[in-house]
Amino acid sequence: MDLFEYQARDIFEKHGVPVLAGRIAETPAEAKAAAEEIGAKSGGVTVVKAQVKTGGRGKAGGVKVAKSADEAEQHASQILGMDIKGHKVRVVMIAQGAQIEEEYYFSILLDRANRNYLAMCSKEGGMEIEQLAVERPEALARIAVDPNVGIDAAKAKEIVEAARFDPETAAKVAPVLEKLWEVYHQEDATLVEVNPLVKVASGEIVALDGKVTLDGNADFRHPDHADLVDEAAEDPLEAKAKAMDLNYVKLDGNVGIIGNGAGLVMSTLDVVAYAGEDHTGGVSKPANFLDIGGGASAEVMANGLDVILNDPQVKAVFVNVFGGITACDAVANGIVGALKTLGDEANKPLVVRLDGNNVEEGRRILAEFNHPLVTIDETMDGAAKDVAIQAAK
Ligand SMILES: Nc1ncnc2c1ncn2[C@@H]1O[C@H](COP(=O)(O)OP(=O)(O)OP(=O)(O)O)[C@@H](O)[C@H]1O
Ligand SMILES: [Mg+2]
Repeated sequence: MDLFEYQARDIFEKHGVPVLAGRIAETPAEAKAAAEEIGAKSGGVTVVKAQVKTGGRGKAGGVKVAKSADEAEQHASQILGMDIKGHKVRVVMIAQGAQIEEEYYFSILLDRANRNYLAMCSKEGGMEIEQLAVERPEALARIAVDPNVGIDAAKAKEIVEAARFDPETAAKVAPVLEKLWEVYHQEDATLVEVNPLVKVASGEIVALDGKVTLDGNADFRHPDHADLVDEAAEDPLEAKAKAMDLNYVKLDGNVGIIGNGAGLVMSTLDVVAYAGEDHTGGVSKPANFLDIGGGASAEVMANGLDVILNDPQVKAVFVNVFGGITACDAVANGIVGALKTLGDEANKPLVVRLDGNNVEEGRRILAEFNHPLVTIDETMDGAAKDVAIQAAK
């Protein structure tokens, strides 16, 4: 889950990362009130910042300095409602204005290719960091971080030395990096990025912006992270699936997909996409990823079908199950039970491919049930072709 900047700011503060005062506002009047309070700490100067989960807000006109509370109100009325790279601004943060001397860059992230963590740091941070990374990669230090050790004092020193800070600045930045590691580690993040990390006129180092991605697989360790979910932006079907404990990801196509096991579901997405290209000129494509896991009970099958059939983009459904520990007859009974439970709601063609443990009995149960919308196929490719054609009708 990606966080908004103001949420990242709050988490930074909780872990002792130096940040400036900030308050969110949903209307220009709220922005004015916030600017009156926050500006008092910085000679009346505040910065009005669009809260959207994308980069490049500054360049898009979503970050504006205000010299008075009235000006903050005006900026907020411009920024609220703005569209930044497809993200509508519903909230702004009024931040205390900083007197910036220098802008740096720091991030720590999951380095999947090397099965490790990676810290990146530059003394030339700010809004042009992407360009810097491409044009002068040597100005962006990249240091591997051992997950079992993290960023301790020695690692922080290695990072600031690689980024070639002068010794005085290096000594100030290093302890902030240790705190940012604490955020990354203790909050189970997969990304913590600060751009810019700044030196202000007083010489202090402050995190002026923050991008944090939390690892959803660690949510069980963090009940407080549930409060950070942006319900307004969540896909309603994904929210429903999540409430039912299903592994569901909404995609753009018209073929609903249910399978057991993540590997099987992923290859099902591939064969459906290929069949769509070959037999429907690219019209049919996967509409979702849904892994109902090993159990595949009638209840889980019914929940899965319920989510998929409620997707208005879905025109036909492909149920692709390989009977392993749960035999095919149990799965077939699950499908029959699900169709009975759903009744008239099961109103789209269903192509079922069963294979594996006790497959004959599974197919027999479905054939006997003889539902008018169900087709049984023996092979995965055959089923993919059938479902692609049905969905394109
Ligand atoms: N509180 C502040 N006081 C003074 N200047 C600020 C403040 N916050 C941001 N700025 C200035 O605005 C610039 C853009 O801000 P910020 O990094 O938050 O936006 P951004 O568009 O998210 O950047 P990017 O997505 O490229 O990281 C900063 O580089 C900094 O110069
Ligand atoms: Mg930034």
